Amino acid sequence: MSTTTNIAVRPAPAATDLQDLRVDSERQALPKNRYTSRAMWQAETEKLWAKVWQWACLVDDLPEAGCYAEYQILDQSVLITRDEDLQLHAFHNVCMHRGNRLRTGSGKNADVACRYHSWTWNLDGSLKKITDEEGFHNLDTSCLGLQTVSMDVWQGFVFINLDRDAEPLADYLAPMDDKLGAYRFGQHVRTRSATMPVGANWKTVVDGFVEVYHLHAIHPQLIPFLDDVNTTYDVWGAHSAMYQPIGIASPRLADTSDRVVLDSLAEGGSGYSGKMLRKSPYFSEVDGVAQMQEGVTVRQAVIDAGRMDEASLGLDYGELTDDQLVDDYHYFIFPNIILNVFSGHFIASRIRPDPVDHESCFFDMFVFDMLTDEQKAARPPSKHVILEKGVSVGRVPDQDFTQLPTVQKGLHSNGFAEVLLSDQECRVLAFHQEVDRYVFGTERSP
Ligand SMILES: [Fe+2]
Repeated sequence: MSTTTNIAVRPAPAATDLQDLRVDSERQALPKNRYTSRAMWQAETEKLWAKVWQWACLVDDLPEAGCYAEYQILDQSVLITRDEDLQLHAFHNVCMHRGNRLRTGSGKNADVACRYHSWTWNLDGSLKKITDEEGFHNLDTSCLGLQTVSMDVWQGFVFINLDRDAEPLADYLAPMDDKLGAYRFGQHVRTRSATMPVGANWKTVVDGFVEVYHLHAIHPQLIPFLDDVNTTYDVWGAHSAMYQPIGIASPRLADTSDRVVLDSLAEGGSGYSGKMLRKSPYFSEVDGVAQMQEGVTVRQAVIDAGRMDEASLGLDYGELTDDQLVDDYHYFIFPNIILNVFSGHFIASRIRPDPVDHESCFFDMFVFDMLTDEQKAARPPSKHVILEKGVSVGRVPDQDFTQLPTVQKGLHSNGFAEVLLSDQECRVLAFHQEVDRYVFGTERSP
């Protein structure tokens, strides 16, 4: 016997009616075509990515005069240079003669010579040479410098904005700058970094990295030592944060004893916190079983290990609180930067839409560590790696990157109309409301 179930599916809006793709803030609902519509992606290209501050590269990528670094966002390429006076500049990465892209990747040159016909610019973007200039007529050379884009530096990160009338970067980041200053990101060193393609719209991927509602389901190995349920959130307009307690088991589990916390955190693959636990003098292993000194909690052991690192390595963690030494403080800088921050260690991730396929994006992952001068000197130069789709980047992100393309596929289902968000996904909602502010000119919710 067959049964019929009434399923109240709202009809999907027509993909061409862009206005219908706006966030429904009252119901905390997102029309699915926000993620699948080419028109939405096009609108974001023109109204968001052309207007918003973006992390382009690191100050460390340009250590000397003549160094350059390219940043690609959609079909735009920006060239950042360091001139002889060590000043940084940012330009559209294009020859003013025939439109050739001037540089790819990063490197070092005395000037910026186009490889097509040798038109050349100084490192500050001023015009240096037009090959056989006498053959051109009515050239206004005053307009032929490289075309500048807005640029500024924050804690070792070089930001650009394609809008030359952009608000100052400091104003843009102000809501969270005072929260992040104590970490001294600029004193950390990039120790590993990679770029990988992901088969999902860029917003699908951002969504997957700004909430912990999914942890118990796709990262079950985390919740014995990470309290997803009591994670707290802050939203500051465009930007947001969540604070994930580490060293405390999720109340979703039947057994939340410190034994469970200890075993799970000591297990290989539990990341930076597990590494810090193993550094603690209170921690030991007997016959492969993790042991903690009587009366010391796992949480306290990780905090103390952090303080010991600070003292013994001559590091300075500034004004970090005990919670900041053990918990995962997780920040989102609109539109596409995720910072997973610990003591003396953080992971910065960046999600960039693919320039051709609106249902693909690039995930750039950078690992930073605060190192002593000795450690810095002994360290081989870190090389950025470009990975094929599906190459492993670690157990937790692998779990995310397995799931997110299936979400993107599922969004096309005729049986599905809109994404529904709980309060645990408040940062997802805030992110989409900010996208709408750029794309549709809507006001921020109070
Ligand atoms: Fe995840």
